[in-house]
Amino acid sequence: GRILVLNGPNLGRLGTREPQVYGATTHAELVQLCVETGRELGVEVEVRQTDHEGEMLAWLHEAADHGLPVVLNAAAWTHYSIAVRDACAQLTAPLIELHISNTHRREEFRKHSYISEKATGVILGLGVRGYALAIRWLAEQATPGPA
Ligand code: DQA
Repeated sequence: GRILVLNGPNLGRLGTREPQVYGATTHAELVQLCVETGRELGVEVEVRQTDHEGEMLAWLHEAADHGLPVVLNAAAWTHYSIAVRDACAQLTAPLIELHISNTHRREEFRKHSYISEKATGVILGLGVRGYALAIRWLAEQATPGPA
């Protein structure tokens, strides 16, 4: 099966963006980490990043139409986008909500997520390693095909 890893606004700036919060790993390195983890587990992982909400909605619709599992870091949209939440509600395969930082240790406005109620599970505060854990969990859920 195929897993989509979808990253929202400002995550393309990983590595230079507030490294004390998000770490030193760049988005390109994060892509490598995800693809490599998938390869080890025999699943195809596709990583995308956008700063445009409409593009993210189209990707979520694609995941809904194809029944694809998703790892979603909706970044700031997490805290205010009902449109992203409504797109998540259309997914049929598992959805993992992921945040690099522990959003509960930060500003008050980061404590609420519009996504969590629609997510199968949530990973917070484990840095970019969280992506590998999410992919591993999704790979374990995938029903084994014929030998
Ligand atoms: C984030 C947390 C959000 O609050 C923030 O807006 C981000 C990144 C994280 O991965 O920790 O852009 O989703």
